[in-house]
Amino acid sequence: MKEQIDLTRLPQHVAIIMDGNGRWAQQHGMERYMGHQEGAVSVRKIVEAAGEIGVKYLTLYAFSTENWNRPQTEVDALMALLITTIQRETPDLMSNNVRLHAIGDLSRLPKASKDELDWCIATTAKNTGLNLVLALSYSSRWEITDAVKQIAAKIQNRELNIHQIDEQIVSQHLTTRQLPDPDLLIRTGGEQRISNYLLWQLAYAELYFTPVYWPDFREKHFFEAIIDYQNRERRFGKTGEQIKNTINN
Ligand code: FPP
Repeated sequence: MKEQIDLTRLPQHVAIIMDGNGRWAQQHGMERYMGHQEGAVSVRKIVEAAGEIGVKYLTLYAFSTENWNRPQTEVDALMALLITTIQRETPDLMSNNVRLHAIGDLSRLPKASKDELDWCIATTAKNTGLNLVLALSYSSRWEITDAVKQIAAKIQNRELNIHQIDEQIVSQHLTTRQLPDPDLLIRTGGEQRISNYLLWQLAYAELYFTPVYWPDFREKHFFEAIIDYQNRERRFGKTGEQIKNTINN
């Protein structure tokens, strides 16, 4: 499978909606949180696979703003899992040259989870391989609303004027300001929606949906998604003819 990937045409940034943990657990007669635990194993495998082929950015939707409304026991289990996963995986992130980042309303995280996250981000800050981005307490509408507030404040205190606002200014006020836009979005678990994830940034991304539940998602599924992406023609609003001419020139 891996041999079929054209390493010269990789997506630079892959974003993933890791869905299906709860249904996977139910299918196996287990509690929901055990689906998340198994999901953490998939996170490890896919981080390794992405690093191995040379993807530069991998953004994982680990916890949405809406997920705060889940039963408190599940929220607590996810926050605890974040801590144990970071503690267990940081040595391997270091040996694999992976740099951790986080996006979202991180001020809402419990202090212990936030401290662990900050520690891992600082520890891996000089790594130069894969950039692993965790979206935590994240939603696009929160992010865009927050960007609007920041821009409005700058106009109010005359750091900016209205005519300077363009797409670049908006992008610079999103939590993803240091990241390129995703080229490929993968959603596991069979649903075909975007669920308030990177709405601005996914404008030109290729979308890939698979019925595989996240805890079952392995390297081969990831590589299948990359190969599918490489078989598509990305036109960015241009005609197919124009794209062929750019490639040939
Ligand atoms: C969606 O499945 C998944 C989540 C809300 C959490 C994702 C978290 C992990 C994979 C845990 C490990 C990650 C890190 C970074 C520690 P769901 O619960 O909505 O599944 P369902 O749709 O089947 O109910």
